[in-house]
Amino acid sequence: MRYIIGIDLGTTNSCVSYVDTQDPRATIQSFKIPQLVIEGSFEHLPTLPSACYLAAPQEFPKGALNLPWDHHLNFFVGKFALQQGAKIPTRLVQSAKSWLCHSAANRRDKILPLESDNEEMRISPVEATARYLKHIREAWNHNMARGDVESEFEGQEIILTVPASFDEIARSLTVEAARLAGFDKMNLLEEPQAAFYSWISQHEKDWEKHLSAGSTVLVCDVGGGTTDFSLIEVVVKEGALTFQRMAVGDHLLLGGDNMDAAIAHRLEILLEEEKHVLSRIQRLRLRHEARNAKEALLKENKGDAEHELYRVLLQGSGSNVIQGALSVTLHAAEVRKSLIEGFLGGYSWAEALQLKKTAGFRSMGLPYADEPSITKHLAHFLSSNAGDDHQPKKPDFVLFNGGAMKPPLFQQAIIDNLKAWFGKEVSVLPSYNLDLAVARGAAYYGKVRQGMGVRIGGGMARGYYLLLDTKDEQGLVVSKAMTLLPRGSEDGSSFEPETTFQLKPNTPVVFQIATSHVRLHDLAGDLIDVDPKEMQMLPPIQT
Ligand SMILES: Nc1ncnc2c1ncn2[C@@H]1O[C@H](COP(=O)(O)OP(=O)(O)OP(=O)(O)O)[C@@H](O)[C@H]1O
Ligand SMILES: [Mg+2]
Repeated sequence: MRYIIGIDLGTTNSCVSYVDTQDPRATIQSFKIPQLVIEGSFEHLPTLPSACYLAAPQEFPKGALNLPWDHHLNFFVGKFALQQGAKIPTRLVQSAKSWLCHSAANRRDKILPLESDNEEMRISPVEATARYLKHIREAWNHNMARGDVESEFEGQEIILTVPASFDEIARSLTVEAARLAGFDKMNLLEEPQAAFYSWISQHEKDWEKHLSAGSTVLVCDVGGGTTDFSLIEVVVKEGALTFQRMAVGDHLLLGGDNMDAAIAHRLEILLEEEKHVLSRIQRLRLRHEARNAKEALLKENKGDAEHELYRVLLQGSGSNVIQGALSVTLHAAEVRKSLIEGFLGGYSWAEALQLKKTAGFRSMGLPYADEPSITKHLAHFLSSNAGDDHQPKKPDFVLFNGGAMKPPLFQQAIIDNLKAWFGKEVSVLPSYNLDLAVARGAAYYGKVRQGMGVRIGGGMARGYYLLLDTKDEQGLVVSKAMTLLPRGSEDGSSFEPETTFQLKPNTPVVFQIATSHVRLHDLAGDLIDVDPKEMQMLPPIQT
């Protein structure tokens, strides 16, 4: 093994960093991913858009989609996929990662793109994920290994990141996709931890100047599809300062994709006000246009963009490309205001704890969070992870991550809310780069695993429980949960329950396992009441 490779498999963008262990300084480098940018033309880019375009037969001239390492593909991933998909959205697979954690969907079924008119031209969320990872593996072997067996991807130490809030099934489907992509072995790492490892990697020598015992760091990671909160605390262990991951948040399907949907909805209203009738394809294209508009209008470090205008041009379909074209103008100030109000508004602590819950189940699309306010989810997260004093955790520092947190006004909204709730300033830990930090942190974690860096402790993010029927004092059967592994259990820890079980041969048995990331104080073997608000059921294990 020569390299440690960190992969951020994102909903919108994937990226890769690596460490060459033969380099005495073992610095973290970015692997620029070769990908089609237009027909027949390649570029090496820091990110690979997690997008897959399913090409129709004869859609492109022969050879136009060839990769240097593969000449027989009828699909392509990355930047050109995204661009081509903006024109023909019915052939574009996007946000596969959000589907991986959709428990009501069969994630191995060919369901994407949902909007495709051709049943035959669909792939499963697992297959889409495998295609991005395979592209990365093959690109590595082509560019980095170049025939050197010792450097081949399959033999390297691979760290693959997943949201901290991904459940067991979404994690195992990610591993399944990686195996389909030809990965032999890999270690998973939580994305917010990876973002924090990236910060540590820049402050290996001087982090104790910035943080002291008891400091609490909030990692606020908002990407294309997921909002992922984690709390990391500086604790004293065996006389030395060290990091402990204290809490991770609920899985929230909430991020840049939702902001795009909100802008697309606004665009649709504006167009309808002008009495325009949108074709189905134009309606689908609105999402792409909305994302472009959002990124252009909220660019980092833009000065006063209040008066900026952004013109959205929607081409017509089929032979009517020019004639059917529609245009509408967005105002920067209006977009900023609606995104802040919708996603990052200011609330008092009491208001912020009121989460909107919509009844009903959406089977067609993704189960996006009912409550769009990231601010409110943050308050909920901090209050569900109260300390022994039952007070919410008050972060001292915040580390932002994810493309959706790039606009300085979004970051400021979070800081202002924290200050209003807790009455104290929260300092920002500067990120290396909001797009690349997770992959860099993953590569650094690979170094830590080899004993070359500062580790974050914290053990398992969730506790695991086995549901049991027992009899109460009146002899009535009641359901209880026995703590199998408490939250925070470290790798390799084990325990033996005092309760013994009897086995009935030749009788089918069902084990119902539940998880909880909010129950803090259970000990292994504790028998507790089943509380659906605090526990999530995993699919039963049946013999
Ligand atoms: N300047 C910007 N302003 C607002 N949003 C932006 C900006 N630049 C990028 N984004 C948004 O950031 C999101 C992508 O972020 P990122 O690449 O971190 O996501 P990801 O890692 O793929 O997703 P996840 O972590 O949820 O799996 C997209 O929704 C994109 O439109
Ligand atoms: Mg991400």
